[in-house]
Order: sequence, then structure tokens, then C-alpha cells
Amino acid sequence: MLRCRLIPSAVVTLMLLQGVAMVLLFGWYGHLMPSTSTAPQGKVHVLLLSSWRSGSSFLGQVFSQHPSVFYLMEPGWHVWTTLRQPGARALRMALRDLMRSIFQCDLSVLEAYTPDQRNVSNLFMWSNSRALCSPPACPLTPRHSFSNETECRRRCDARGLQKAEEACHSYSHVVLKEVRFFELESLYPLLHDPTIDLRIIHLIRDPRAVAKSREQAIRALLSDNALVLEKGGQKVTDSDLRVLQEVCRSHVRIYETAMLKPPDFLRGRYKMVRYEDMVRDPLEEIENMYKFVDLEMSPQLQDWIYKVTHGKGKGSRKEAFKITSRNAEDVSQAWRTTLSHNTVKRIQQVCKGAMSLLGYQLVDSEKEQKRLDLDLVVSRKRYQFSWLPAITTESPML
Ligand SMILES: *[C@@H]1O[C@H](CO)[C@@H](O)[C@H](O)[C@H]1NC(C)=O
Ligand SMILES: *[C@@H]1O[C@H](CO)[C@@H](O)[C@H](O)[C@H]1NC(C)=O
Repeated sequence: MLRCRLIPSAVVTLMLLQGVAMVLLFGWYGHLMPSTSTAPQGKVHVLLLSSWRSGSSFLGQVFSQHPSVFYLMEPGWHVWTTLRQPGARALRMALRDLMRSIFQCDLSVLEAYTPDQRNVSNLFMWSNSRALCSPPACPLTPRHSFSNETECRRRCDARGLQKAEEACHSYSHVVLKEVRFFELESLYPLLHDPTIDLRIIHLIRDPRAVAKSREQAIRALLSDNALVLEKGGQKVTDSDLRVLQEVCRSHVRIYETAMLKPPDFLRGRYKMVRYEDMVRDPLEEIENMYKFVDLEMSPQLQDWIYKVTHGKGKGSRKEAFKITSRNAEDVSQAWRTTLSHNTVKRIQQVCKGAMSLLGYQLVDSEKEQKRLDLDLVVSRKRYQFSWLPAITTESPML
């Protein structure tokens, strides 16, 4: 009985306190925020959902370099490398809550995962974020310019995370890239949260190209592999393709949840993008993605996109997380000449379901594999991703 009487008064006190806090907080923002900033109510929150080695660094840059975007790359890295639980399943809620706080520009959540005397440079891959190389986080890069990661790393950084928070508040879009989600259900609370306007862009890629790319980053992936397979703390090479299989399964799971039986609150908030479509027609695909999240395309961005997708250089990069300028379409076909046909057959076995669902054709022989004129990506015209059942008259797998 005593408890019942106490609770209402405690609630009233809490509400009063919260009211005072809100008034103080908004007054404080009023002083802090430049007049050009967008009201938090109009803010859009974007999750770039991908998996390792699927071209998501490039996609991240497409958003990071946009002048309206505050971008962070894989904040979940902090959770996975600090907690090292048995596996992904146990960590996904911590990951989800970390993302919720960051979407709300509350970076204090990172205190649990960074050293006591933290700097902006303690954030994973921080110099990939143009916003952290621009005012108010750093004077180096004007907000409408493109940032240079090397220069940023040399000349930015700041003590504490206050400047990064301030920067986050001053943009209309907060974009996070994450490779550590294997289903959508754990994200549902974010979709219900009235303070978050979440849009999910799900990037997928031909698993045969992913496998080739993973071969070049074996060491960088050892710890993450272990967590995917619920063996946290160990180091696991994916020689038997179980991680790749798990990734393929997650594509199917996410696709089915979002496209075949979407709950109402997911409608209009999910978009699937195939990497191959993006490299074939970067401008159109990127323009569609910008539209989906209410970002404007500009001639400067169009130039930049053209340059980074048509650069020179081979795809033989040692580091797992760098993006370089190279011919994106060549790179996406490289597996066909470099992977052995046996390897390709094994990948097709473990990823068969995902490949047929997502429009990647299997090869039946080494000859087919090496015939580069044979297009293995089912064209989007015949393979539309939409909310309605496909209204195709021909078989999409032809
Ligand atoms: C970035 O800056 C470095 C060092 O100043 C320079 O060598 C490099 O070419 C620049 N990169 C780009 C893409 O402009
Ligand atoms: C943090 O940043 C300050 C100045 O911005 C710098 O002097 C200091 O060395 C940095 N600390 C670390 C650990 O990087």
C-alpha cells in the first residue's frame, strides 16, 4: 500500500524534473546551435545495413560526403570488440541501443566502449566521417566540400566527444552504417520510437564476389567471424564458408521480413539495393537512395560519384576498411576469373536460396564462370524489388 501511494508522487516529481530539464536543454541548444540547423523533429535517421565486404564502405562515403549528413561507420564495432560475448545474438540489443542513442546525438553511450580520456579519434574509423572533419567538429573541411581522410586524420581530432555531439545536432540526417545485424526484428523498437524517423537501406552483393573480397581480408575478419558463429573470443577463419552461409541466410531472413510479410510500421522504410546495380548505374541508384531518405543530389556530388566509381587501380587491397578510387564494375566481376570453380560451386551450394531470391544466377561449369559476356545478375527490369508481388510475365531466373 505504501508503495502505491509513493509511486504517483514519484512520477509527478520525475515529470516536473523532466520538464525543467527540457526547458534547460532547449535553452542551451538555442545558444549552441547555428541558425541554419534543422529542428530535431525533422531529422531523418538512416541505417545502412550491410555485411562485411559488400561494398558498404563506398555506400557509406556516398552518404558521408553529403553536406546534410552526420555519418558514423560501424559504431557496433565498439560493442563487438569490447564485450566479446559468445556471439552476435547476445550483442544485438546492446548494438540496437547504441544506435538509438547515436541517432539521438547522445554519444555518451560510447563512454562504455572507449578509454576514460577519450578523443574523437577513439571512434572507429572516425576520419571516414566528413562531418567529423568539418565545423563544428573540426575547422579543416568546409561543409560543402569533400573531405580527405588522410588530411583529416592528421589535422582534426579533439578532446572529448562534445564537438562530435554538437556536430551531430547540426545536421538534418544522421546516417549509420552497420554490418552486424542479421535480422530486422531487434530494430522494431527504433521503428516505433517517435523521436526517430528511421529508413533502412539494405545493401546486398553477389556472395561469390563477397567471398573473393573476404579472401583478401582474412586476418581482419577473424574475430568478427567468431562472433557470427557464436564463438566469441576465438579467432575463426571461414574456410568452410559457414560465416558466408550465415550472411546469406540473413539476407533471406531480412528480405522475407521486409518484402513478403512486412509489418505496417516497416512499410516505406525499407529499401533493398544490390551492389551490382549500384556499380552499373551509380548515379541513378544513388539518386534513388537519396530520394528515399529525402536528401538532395547536387552537381558536385554527381561529379564526385562519377570519379570514385570510374577510377583506376586493381582491387587487391590488403586493408579491410579502405575505399579507393577504382573501376567499380571491373572489381565486381573479378571473382569470375580469380576464384576456382570448385570454390564457386561450394559458395553456390551454401548460398543457393539467397542467390535465387535476390537475382544472382548460378554457373554450372568453369566455362560459364569465365565467359564474362554472360550476365549473371538478373536485370532489375525483370526483377523488381517492390512492396507488391512481382507482376512479371516471364520467369525472373530465365
Ligand atoms: C588526400 O591528401 C593526401 C595527403 O595530403 C594526398 O596525398 C592525397 O592525394 C589526397 N587524396 C585525395 C583523394 O585527394
Ligand atoms: C586528444 O586530443 C588532444 C588535442 O585535441 C591531443 O593533444 C591529445 O594528444 C589527444 N589524445 C589522444 C590520446 O589522442
